[in-house]
Amino acid sequence: MIVCSCNVLSDRDVRETLGSRPDRPSVASVFRNMGCEAKCGRCVRSIVAIVDQHQASRLDECGGTGECDSCRSDGLAA
Ligand code: FES
Repeated sequence: MIVCSCNVLSDRDVRETLGSRPDRPSVASVFRNMGCEAKCGRCVRSIVAIVDQHQASRLDECGGTGECDSCRSDGLAA
């Protein structure tokens, strides 16, 4: 599904860009990694939602034990 019509980016494109990144990138960073930038901004909420889903799924992978890169970058590690 296209989430950014200005740059013709799909939700899959965004997820692939997020890959296994342990951090929670900003929307601007997501655009930069895809070689473009926000234009009208209508897609920002959708991209934030995809980033949030990605972070949640990464936490699910380790169970929030604080031992994975995602937990460490979120400051959840003890
Ligand atoms: S829809 Fe993404 S910048 Fe316009």
